[in-house]
Amino acid sequence: MSTTKEIRDAQRLTWAGLSSSWEKWDSDIMDQLGPVATAMIDRLEIGKDQFHLDIASGTGEPGLSIAKMSPDGTVVLTDLVGEMLDIAARRACAQEIFNIETVICSADELPFDDATFDSVSVRFGYMFFPDVAKATSEFARVLRPGGRICSSVWIKPEENPWTSIVTQAIASEMLLAQPNPDTPSMFRCAAPGYISALYEEVGLHDVVEWEVGVELVTQTPGEYWEMISEHLSLAVAALAQASEPAWERIHEKVIANVKAFEKNGVVRVPGIARCIVGTK
Ligand SMILES: C[S@@+](CC[C@H](N)C(=O)[O-])C[C@H]1O[C@@H](n2cnc3c(N)ncnc32)[C@H](O)[C@@H]1O
Repeated sequence: MSTTKEIRDAQRLTWAGLSSSWEKWDSDIMDQLGPVATAMIDRLEIGKDQFHLDIASGTGEPGLSIAKMSPDGTVVLTDLVGEMLDIAARRACAQEIFNIETVICSADELPFDDATFDSVSVRFGYMFFPDVAKATSEFARVLRPGGRICSSVWIKPEENPWTSIVTQAIASEMLLAQPNPDTPSMFRCAAPGYISALYEEVGLHDVVEWEVGVELVTQTPGEYWEMISEHLSLAVAALAQASEPAWERIHEKVIANVKAFEKNGVVRVPGIARCIVGTK
């Protein structure tokens, strides 16, 4: 089994490597994941002077949207990887959002006092943490009594063709490692009730889960391939190991299969996320 340090080091390397692709495809990624941010923010009851903590902020969402809604408040954006937070800071500047701070730290070891924040968000971060239970107890520790936490994760691959089109094509050419529940992978938290149970174990109440649909929109099947093969962590890792002929066959399969989602000159590939809210 991998140690906490090994998992963090591997995640640092992965996300530092992916950061420039996340910046390149920023507006497509944000359009795709926007409905999830909206759904999460709706349940967090953000006030004008909120002191909010965003975990695994990456390039900044949903933290930056919360900062905009809370002009007299502050949003602390945190992530394990400085390169991702640098993009978040650039995006904040471009959007003239100045009530944010960035802090590099791991979700399972937060450098904040108990009961500091009014609310906590974690969009698509949970699946990458070395110890999901320890991270959850940290979120509850830094949340003030009565404060809310909302997170989101992906549900099963069958409901997420925006990623499974590529992973199925890769699996037809290469042996992929079987997901291990204790190590990071995109669908590690997919089971209904998985995050709710973590929340309840640390004493959070009024825990509710619900599903939110997303759509990845690109102009052509070729653009879909370019985007996914450059920014989706599991695809980037697998394709780096593929021989040239295997890479070509995967490419051809993906283009052929994604054509089913092309209509009126636009490619729209659906997916489903699960949001989970709880109160301290
Ligand atoms: C899929 S991105 C999500 C970014 C952003 N929240 C969003 O939804 O666009 C996952 C992020 O988790 C971060 N991450 C991975 N392991 C982490 C850890 N142990 N603690 C905090 N962040 C971590 C990565 O660096 C990456 O920025």
